[in-house]
Amino acid sequence: MRISQKDPILPEHHLKTHTKPSQNPNQGLSMIRKYKDEDFNAVLELLKKSLVHDEITSELLKEKLQGDPHFDREMVLVTEDGDRITGFMQGVTRDIRGERIGYLKLMAVDPDNRKKGIARQMYGMMEDLFRKRGVRKVRIFDVPLNYFQPGIDPRYTEALCFAWRMGFARFDDTTNLIADLEGRDWETARMEHDLAEEGIVISRATEEDRVELLRFIEDEFALWRHEVSMAFQREPVAIHIARFNDRIRGFSAYNGNNVGNGWFGPMGTSNVLRGRGIGEVLLKRCLSDLKAEGNKKAIIPWVGPIAFYAHHAGANVDRVFWRFEKPLN
Ligand SMILES: CC(C)(COP(=O)(O)OP(=O)(O)OC[C@H]1O[C@@H](n2cnc3c(N)ncnc32)[C@H](O)[C@@H]1OP(=O)(O)O)[C@@H](O)C(=O)NCCC(=O)NCCS
Repeated sequence: MRISQKDPILPEHHLKTHTKPSQNPNQGLSMIRKYKDEDFNAVLELLKKSLVHDEITSELLKEKLQGDPHFDREMVLVTEDGDRITGFMQGVTRDIRGERIGYLKLMAVDPDNRKKGIARQMYGMMEDLFRKRGVRKVRIFDVPLNYFQPGIDPRYTEALCFAWRMGFARFDDTTNLIADLEGRDWETARMEHDLAEEGIVISRATEEDRVELLRFIEDEFALWRHEVSMAFQREPVAIHIARFNDRIRGFSAYNGNNVGNGWFGPMGTSNVLRGRGIGEVLLKRCLSDLKAEGNKKAIIPWVGPIAFYAHHAGANVDRVFWRFEKPLN
């Protein structure tokens, strides 16, 4: 198999390949090119086949692609072999606290075509695209705002090997918790009554709260703005808020990312009001909604205060992810 480029954005050195020649004349020439909308179903199938520890749906893939707040079509690559898509890699960039970071957001190579240099070549091309966009460091999957999983699940051992080989170093872990929604009562009326006596009013957010809530988040938890904006689009609004002296001082949200997976978060209470039980009520209101939507479990991703969720939601550690980073010189 030879790998060539269709779009003239791949430097010559990426055309070198150590892959074996194909016996099939229709599959003689593999080509890396930009993703087109017509590739969607083939990419979906490739991801379903490759991401064996996850459940990929059409809605989820749409959310990760065009649903990304910084979707950049130039950074979505496929490898085509004859009429088959054998590789996929999506990159995005984010400006995080004054720094431009490049992320590999999703990637997979067809199981029959692995270890032939396909991911290596797509990554080489991606790195050039990152450099052109002023990226100084690259990370894998842990993309704030709209992400699939917050790092590499180490059971994807090939992905770990790939990351090390491409020059990444592991720097941190992230954890997803899971809460059983069926086994508990998420009733909060009594606690809400007690909070009301202290002047703290809990309610579901409405469209009228949007501007104030996003401003509150901007001030205290800037990176969560996008997920909360997404949660505002749900029907009913997938956000609960706490007001004190008529000002929003806490919130919790769900279905702001990976919609359909029982995805909780983010949530936050203003520093000055922590420790009064506001977070517990806000959390339980969201879990109650997720249960009413028909979810048996809620995922509490990329935590955070494990003890808080263990205590109030009986949540347990479910998946652990490894974070990887590579500086670009
Ligand atoms: C990770 C993945 C994308 C790699 O694709 P690939 O095309 O097989 O990778 P390449 O052939 O380009 O390999 C590049 C380097 O990665 C390393 N590597 C890749 N697969 C490996 C394996 N199974 N064992 C050891 N090293 C491996 C090698 O060092 C290789 O370099 P080398 O050929 O010079 O030794 C592919 O294995 C895959 O799709 N896995 C399942 C999906 C997945 O894990 N996605 C990430 C989810 S978290």
